[in-house]
Amino acid sequence: MKRWFVVELMLAATLLLAVTARADEDVASKAAVCEACHGAQGNSRDGAYPIIAGQNARYIYLELRDFKEGRRSNPLMSPMAAAMSKQDMQAYADYFAAQKEQPTPFKADLRKAALGKQKADETLCSMCHQGEFVGQNEIPKVAGQHPEYVIKQLMDFKNHVRTNDAGNMSSVSKTLTAEDMENLANYIATLY
Ligand code: HEC
Ligand code: HEC
Repeated sequence: MKRWFVVELMLAATLLLAVTARADEDVASKAAVCEACHGAQGNSRDGAYPIIAGQNARYIYLELRDFKEGRRSNPLMSPMAAAMSKQDMQAYADYFAAQKEQPTPFKADLRKAALGKQKADETLCSMCHQGEFVGQNEIPKVAGQHPEYVIKQLMDFKNHVRTNDAGNMSSVSKTLTAEDMENLANYIATLY
């Protein structure tokens, strides 16, 4: 290999590293806007806001697109997605997917959690969400999510308020009572 070529390669690699570091810095500083509601690194401490740290990148991207295009709607979240480009959505998705999910201070009721596990097994939640709700690609990780948020989503699917699930969750949630949802949410809170 000619010497100048090696030098050129090294220069290119250094520049690439610098550019990548810069992009990470940019998205981390832009994410401060999100963190006002979703918490530091996406670890929300308020059940009104979902934890997005460690969520699947594919799922985050698709939800942002759905909020932007009106397939999913929320008065706080929809305006946030309205002006996002495809590149922004991908950058946020990669950034939050790479953060580590932290346990919430919520203390699950273990009796309810046991009933919730039974219901999850019976309803075959793991057929889509995988064992212990770890999720995959476009199927969200739900493990460790705030109970308040989980119950709200199950209710929203059941009442056709949230309809961006290709029918998967509306048919599941139709079979769930409010008590089942409470039990499932307690079970999900114990999963880390
Ligand atoms: C003003 C508060 C607020 C801000 C700021 C905010 N969000 Fe949200 N976000 C919400 C709420 C509330 C929900 C849940 C909506 C619902 O109940 O369906 C949500 C939901 C989401 C979801 C779906 C999560 C899931 O598990 O389905 C993603 C992804 C998301 N937000 C990403 C972002 C990103 C990225 C930013 C920053 C650009 C951001 N949010 C800024 C309030 C906010
Ligand atoms: C047939 C597949 C399937 C089954 C079975 C299923 N889910 Fe889902 N679930 C999905 C999909 C797909 C989504 C995401 C929809 C979207 O794109 O917004 C979802 C979303 C959710 C959400 C919202 C997560 C978030 O971050 O907003 C919760 C909570 C949930 N499921 C709980 C459950 C529970 C509890 C069960 C069992 C009782 C279950 N799911 C069974 C496919 C399924």
